[in-house]
Amino acid sequence: MSDQSDLTKPWGGRFNAPTDAFVERFTASVQFDKRLYAHDIRGSIAHAQMLTEVGILNPDERDKIVGGLRAIESDIEDGRFEWSVALEDVHMNIEHALVERIGDSGKKLHTARSRNDQIATDIRLFLREEIDAIVAGLTSLMRGLVDLAEREAATVMPGFTHLQTAQPVSFGHHMLAWFEMLGRDRDRLGDCRKRVNIMPLGAGALAGTTFPIDRAISANLLGFEYIAQNSLDAVSDRDFAIEFCACASILMMHFSRMAEELVLWNSQQFSFIEISDAFCTGSSMMPQKKNPDVPELVRGKSGRVAGHLMGLITLMKSQPLAYNKDNQEDKEPLFDTVDTVIDCIKAFGDLVPSLTVNAENMRAAAEKGFATATDLADYLVREGIPFRDAHAVVGAAVRLAVEKNCDLKDLPLGELRSLYPAMTERVYAVLDVDRSLNARNHLGGTAPAQVRAACKRARERLDTAACACSTMEAMP
Ligand code: ARG
Repeated sequence: MSDQSDLTKPWGGRFNAPTDAFVERFTASVQFDKRLYAHDIRGSIAHAQMLTEVGILNPDERDKIVGGLRAIESDIEDGRFEWSVALEDVHMNIEHALVERIGDSGKKLHTARSRNDQIATDIRLFLREEIDAIVAGLTSLMRGLVDLAEREAATVMPGFTHLQTAQPVSFGHHMLAWFEMLGRDRDRLGDCRKRVNIMPLGAGALAGTTFPIDRAISANLLGFEYIAQNSLDAVSDRDFAIEFCACASILMMHFSRMAEELVLWNSQQFSFIEISDAFCTGSSMMPQKKNPDVPELVRGKSGRVAGHLMGLITLMKSQPLAYNKDNQEDKEPLFDTVDTVIDCIKAFGDLVPSLTVNAENMRAAAEKGFATATDLADYLVREGIPFRDAHAVVGAAVRLAVEKNCDLKDLPLGELRSLYPAMTERVYAVLDVDRSLNARNHLGGTAPAQVRAACKRARERLDTAACACSTMEAMP
């Protein structure tokens, strides 16, 4: 990137002295906003077409502008474009190159436009595209979760509360819990997209323009669904970017929870799953180590995304209308949020289908820790004992088993009868983990049949735009 300061600045008219070299670098954004070149060019082409349709440019000028912009785009893509810090940002770099390339017609492009409505348009075009990529990636990760859930619908694992063994659940059911979390994230992003897809172009610097523009033409050309209704608001607010970062932060929070479980389950102590070698790294000192770096990093990266949300909301706070240079600071956090989310979706999207599930270990763990104690209490309720009393009886049985260092099913019937005289042999059947699973056979329950039915509905929901469904829609 060149930093020659002798280039005439497009806004240099009212200035007598050149910009201080440090200030030039300090105020420039081209170092990072050049990433928006394709959106900037697309916006400029639409603007030129609109200006032509309303008679401000003639078709010849338009053709020169469009041709010049396309040539500049190729130069950028082929690495032939010389970006200049002295030209401050992506907009002035491209406009300068256009004038150099096509002459005076290029100077007309900025008629009825300001960099303020231009940048707001560019970011929205960029973010709309990235949201679509994120939603597509999320959808394919979610498909992977449904595949895994269906395959492991009858795989028993201990379900936890407080990270203590609580009740047996299906591993597939657990995968579908992740699916639900991500489904809401997908919906949130889709909803956020509606507020991203609003066109600021035409707002000018802040007050609109004296030229007879037709904003519907540019909006149609750029695929914007709505046109910003107030010029002051259009150039100044970055709430759409904040909202995106909020959606991304919630998504990353979900990812961090999934990551944490993957790390735990992959540990020697749990050994519920194995993360394939391709997603792990070793230790330079301890030869035995195979570390789950990928989920650990996803967990860690949730921090920077939440940080960007805080950064952007603080950036916007207290800014008076309309545009302020503060807003130039929106790009780096936004770009990093997009990049981080896309990388993490890719990491999980690849990792999930390659997981090895250790069903025997999960089952063995589910059989320890009195996971079916609630089933026993429910059984006693069906025998006519009030639930509170049943809870106390089973509590006493657990205490007995702890004292004898055995499972509930190892307690002899005689001992169980000492706690509740009407206890029969049938009690042992309810302590079985598969039976426990199958017994929870209702919408949203963990019975393998319910998990399979939920997988079927999940696939159907993935094919619709909105994924999370209301309770009524979920009715089979
Ligand atoms: N680089 C600026 C930004 O990112 C573009 C708009 C600049 N407008 C201005 N009047 N300085 O926000």
